[in-house]
Amino acid sequence: MIVYLNGEFLPLEEARVSVLDRGFIFADGVYEVIPVYGGHLFRLQAHLQRLENSLKNIKLQNPLTNEQWGEILETLVDRNNGGEQSIYLQVTRGSAKRNHNFPEQVVPTVFMMSDSIEAQPPSTGVKAITCADTRWQRCDIKSIALLANVLLRRQAIEVGAAETILIRDGYMMEGAASNVFIVVEGVAITPPKSQFILPGITRDLILEAMREAKLPCREANIPQAQLRSAQEIWVTSSTREIVPIISLDDKPVGNGQPGALWSQVWQIYQDYKQKLRANG
Ligand code: PDD
Repeated sequence: MIVYLNGEFLPLEEARVSVLDRGFIFADGVYEVIPVYGGHLFRLQAHLQRLENSLKNIKLQNPLTNEQWGEILETLVDRNNGGEQSIYLQVTRGSAKRNHNFPEQVVPTVFMMSDSIEAQPPSTGVKAITCADTRWQRCDIKSIALLANVLLRRQAIEVGAAETILIRDGYMMEGAASNVFIVVEGVAITPPKSQFILPGITRDLILEAMREAKLPCREANIPQAQLRSAQEIWVTSSTREIVPIISLDDKPVGNGQPGALWSQVWQIYQDYKQKLRANG
């Protein structure tokens, strides 16, 4: 695998960063995950805009222009043989003597790598659990400080579930690494953007595509009780696409099968990917 590190393309084994990198010492950095279909980056401008917002919120100047990001990302995709892959990129506040206060002048560390992406078969559904959201109050920043998310996801894995759905002050927020939609009386609902959820690119695309297809959807706060009585629950992310949850805390969701609206939206998503593969 070829990776990008601070201006250079090189094999993964040769990529090195300082142990004083603030990413390593403080998790002082932000990231993006961008899927690639047929060699084309999925919703690149939206990912770059979210990256810009994350950087602004942690007071780190964007080290590259969007044109430069685009060129480097496309080169990285090509160097890893195009096709279907997922690109991970991260920007940290560079290397400096350990101090909570960061220096004014920093040279950020810019790292990107490619990962394989599995062709997603129509899912037969997965289990999820709920947990109290133990994360901080700025979940809109795509921070590399993910220990809470890591531990929350682990709780699901330990009981044979695939995702943990997070509850804050009696309301459903999102998954440990995904956004969440529920279906109530035939309408898909997802929480509005706030500082408590990551503004998911997949989430936005689903809302956009549903509106275009005149399928009923809206953004609204979701009380825990509404989550528990939902006809359908889906989790969405760049790497998992749209996955139906068929059991929540060991109780069936709806009739315990992937729902009808999910399968319509899943198909729309597949068509969107197919268009991207064909036309870029
Ligand atoms: N995570 N919410 C959280 C907390 C996430 O970590 C993610 C994605 C999402 C979905 O965002 P998007 O649709 O833009 O992927 C929501 C990525 C995939 C990850 O950390 O690997």
